[in-house]
Amino acid sequence: MGYLKLRIDRIFGIRGSALGRRGALARARDIVFLGTAALTLFGCRLDMHVQPKYLPYAATNFFGDGRSERQPVPGTVARGQLRLDELMFTGKENGVVSNRFPFPITRADLERGRERYNIYCTPCHDYTGSGHGMIVQRGFPQPPSYHIQRLRDAPVGHFFEVMTNGFGAMYSYAARIEPADRWRIAAYIRALQLGQDATLQDVPASERAKLTENSAGQPAGSSR
Ligand code: HEC
Repeated sequence: MGYLKLRIDRIFGIRGSALGRRGALARARDIVFLGTAALTLFGCRLDMHVQPKYLPYAATNFFGDGRSERQPVPGTVARGQLRLDELMFTGKENGVVSNRFPFPITRADLERGRERYNIYCTPCHDYTGSGHGMIVQRGFPQPPSYHIQRLRDAPVGHFFEVMTNGFGAMYSYAARIEPADRWRIAAYIRALQLGQDATLQDVPASERAKLTENSAGQPAGSSR
């Protein structure tokens, strides 16, 4: 450090104003020395900091059209973006909103649908689908209940479409919920609808007795 200070002092002429010829030579040497040191210390960091690349949408005069990126070859499909299954990805068949699921719905699918629905939809549509979620209670436009006749009659593809494209004041969920999960949520909405509109006939005969028991005023499980 003392050595470096001596050299810096010499360069800026702090020590002794009458440097003489030897002093001037030494000063020139020191300037070269410090210059090389600075280049060595800072210059070598540039290799990773300034890269010979174009940032997205940067202009260039290398290509005739002035764009640094090239158009993909016609027909190119990005990995994972091949969407040939119309029903699976649009909710439609031959352009018409479909009432079919693109894959068989199992109990596991329904449970996954319930989980996703509870995460993404209940803030507005609430846990039963009546449309009184917490955000609505705080002033967001109220969605229609899933239990109105029009939505009971709506094909299941309609629910998929609403999630995929958004609907009126409701924004799209395509970026947050993958297509298969959107179908699982649609299936769970069907379950919610059934839950609010079931009759005794929908209950398996073997279970009906329990319901009649309950309606006689006894809470479930209390009969010994
Ligand atoms: C931030 C609040 C909000 C969330 C979260 C939300 N929605 Fe909605 N949704 C709305 C509103 C508001 C409407 C009514 C839009 C309109 O008519 O302008 C609506 C309408 C709907 C409709 C009825 C469309 C019709 O035909 O009338 C369906 C079905 C629906 N949403 C499904 C869902 C599903 C499924 C989710 C979860 C993936 C979800 N929504 C999440 C606010 C929300």
